[in-house]
Amino acid sequence: MSVSYESPGRASHVRPGHAALHLARAASLAPSPHNSQPWLFAEEGHDHGFEVHLHGRRQVMLTDPGGREAVIACGAALFNVRIAVRQLGFRPAVDLLPEPGNSGYLAHVGYAAHAPATPEEALLARAMPHRHTHRGPFAPEPVPDILLDELRDHARAEGADLQIIDEPEKLRLLADLVRTAEDVHRADPRHAAEIVRSVGPEGVPVEACRRHPDATLLAGRDYLEFARYRIRPSRRWIGRTGTVAVLSTPYDSCTDWLRSGQALQRVLLHAAAHNVVAAFHTQPLELAALRAEIRTRLVGGRFPQVVLRLGRTARMWRTSRRRTIEVLVDDAVPVRW
Ligand SMILES: Cc1cc2nc3c(=O)[nH]c(=O)nc-3n(C[C@H](O)[C@H](O)[C@H](O)COP(=O)(O)O)c2cc1C
Repeated sequence: MSVSYESPGRASHVRPGHAALHLARAASLAPSPHNSQPWLFAEEGHDHGFEVHLHGRRQVMLTDPGGREAVIACGAALFNVRIAVRQLGFRPAVDLLPEPGNSGYLAHVGYAAHAPATPEEALLARAMPHRHTHRGPFAPEPVPDILLDELRDHARAEGADLQIIDEPEKLRLLADLVRTAEDVHRADPRHAAEIVRSVGPEGVPVEACRRHPDATLLAGRDYLEFARYRIRPSRRWIGRTGTVAVLSTPYDSCTDWLRSGQALQRVLLHAAAHNVVAAFHTQPLELAALRAEIRTRLVGGRFPQVVLRLGRTARMWRTSRRRTIEVLVDDAVPVRW
């Protein structure tokens, strides 16, 4: 399945409502593959509702040809919108894929009953600007079991499963599959060029990629071409891999990708609120045969959507976002799959 976007929509020239601005700012803080930010938001009437659209032209074509990761990113943005609506004192009324025949219109969020945010929702809202992606080794202290249990509960509440991969044999298998995928990507000059191109002030910041991608048990993306220049990693970091986890769903439709994104962001925000951050290793999920192997051998036949490492770190890098005025449009034009 591939995604095409007919028009990026018109940047808003009518002054958007305060609520729409607040929601668009929150949504933009979501993670996305190579910081591609494959979303557009639209305000329905004047603060009557809020729309989340896929911006297919911002899809990273070689990393994510089917658009699955782009939709997951939009699902994460949708979760931020839900939390931002709670900050305004309303319950969000979410309609997934509200327009049959317009598969790029991913979600409509309306304002339902008035109700103050719960302490947990307030905690997630406060964590939103502080959540960042980590790359490289973590600090030595492990993620507490009680926090891992909470993260699993958060994923489950969104219809996904967060499976901790801690048995040595399974961990080795996952590390091998990530390694194989990363080797395939590195050996393809076009793919390698896409990764390198994504580094910069508007993409993934150079500072966030300075650790050798092979420093931990799971290979990372080689954003700065360490492998090409035959720079070797220090093996002393291998014990600092952190806790490895796979997020999965029972099915693999666009709705499941949206659910995965919401579950992912809920997990990431709850973790961030407790000073635990995540590194992503989604490379094997981008190659059908390797994804199938993870599905059958590691997550009990469920569909793996994201591979993460979780841990603590003293240093984080902030990644830039497009300006709100660029992502909040007057009209979002239909998308065809
Ligand atoms: C579905 C998905 C897949 C991702 N895969 C990777 C990955 O394989 N390697 C990586 O370093 N980051 C990955 N990321 C993280 C993005 O690079 C990161 O979210 C983006 O650069 C924005 O930075 P931030 O998360 O710090 O705000 C992924 C993010 C999403 C949503």
